[in-house]
Amino acid sequence: MVRWPPRAASGNPSAMSISEIYQLQKVSFKNIPTRNPDMKRCLDAAAAAAPHDMTVLILGENGTGKNLLAQAIHNSSPRAMGPYIALNCSAIADTLIESELFGHERGSFTSADRDRKGKFELANGGTLFLDEVGDLSPAAQAKMLRAVEYKQFERVGGEKTIKANIRIIAATNQDIFTQVETGTFRRDLFYRLKEVIIELPPLHSRKEDIPLLVEKFIEESNKKYNRTVLEISDEALEVLIKYHWPGNIRELRSVIKSAVVKEQGPALLPERIQIAGRRPPPRKAPPIFVEAEEEEDLSLAAYEKKHIGMVLGRTSGNKRKACQILKISRPTLDRKIELYGIEYPGRSSQRRRKKKPVPP
Ligand SMILES: Nc1ncnc2c1ncn2[C@@H]1O[C@H](COP(=O)(O)OP(=O)(O)O)[C@@H](O)[C@H]1O
Ligand SMILES: [Mg+2]
Repeated sequence: MVRWPPRAASGNPSAMSISEIYQLQKVSFKNIPTRNPDMKRCLDAAAAAAPHDMTVLILGENGTGKNLLAQAIHNSSPRAMGPYIALNCSAIADTLIESELFGHERGSFTSADRDRKGKFELANGGTLFLDEVGDLSPAAQAKMLRAVEYKQFERVGGEKTIKANIRIIAATNQDIFTQVETGTFRRDLFYRLKEVIIELPPLHSRKEDIPLLVEKFIEESNKKYNRTVLEISDEALEVLIKYHWPGNIRELRSVIKSAVVKEQGPALLPERIQIAGRRPPPRKAPPIFVEAEEEEDLSLAAYEKKHIGMVLGRTSGNKRKACQILKISRPTLDRKIELYGIEYPGRSSQRRRKKKPVPP
């Protein structure tokens, strides 16, 4: 059961939009179906950690479901009735991070015209989700450390030490192990954040989950766009399974959404699937009309000859277009063609030879 409205909304109405609140209400481990053994292990670890107040660090490429998992952990924790406050650490300027995290007192800086609670305070009684934590600057990491360790802080310009009863979940798409090794991420903060560490697999390594996810996204898109697609055709599913999904589940979701919107029939057809691998191949440039060199000639003149030949090839011998592309005048182009003996479509060596004066 989720209290309505959740405390985050009453504490700070701008903290969550209504759609985010609805989404948060629905997310549980049941919403993350999987047949993949690695993913199952991730979900088991998350479910085991959920009831306890341990920090959880979720790793994984963009779009692998880090936010979703963080919400599922919160929703199955004893804090589920409390606020869930998310902070995207990469989106905050260094100058604002302290006020964003810990709040400020009125008058503490020029634009501080009233007291304001920070995310640590807003999350009191619930969960604070630190998204993209690997993007925090060294200065911001230092400020974060004490608050994460002791769950206490002061507002900017404030004297009073405030204690927050929070559980912290963090996520990053960065290679945090290397960041710790190279010193770009503080080791002490890393240890605080990773009491449990969960690394979500990319979608290309859990392709057995594609049919489950597709089914979910078809259902979701049918509702949203008032469509009646019943299933995906075998051919379309094959296309999805062959693709490598650099944008992971986020990309799959948007591909299915746009396919459902376009589909008029009961089954999604392969031609509705628009993914990078299915874009028409780029047009090949016509062959370069230059004679092959015996030995590689790296002079500027040789390069110019090849380049002009290539442009004339691409314009199918149209000199006017070639001049526009090369940004040179027609007499200059003609002079260079003669100088370098450039062959181009419509001007064969045969024709040139014919033009030569015939000896008496
Ligand atoms: N198991 C899943 N089932 C349904 N949708 C999912 C699942 N995992 C991720 N998504 C969707 O994919 C998108 C990206 O997920 P998100 O949690 O924001 O990823 P990340 O934080 O790793 O970038 C979101 O729209 C999310 O709802
Ligand atoms: Mg995310």
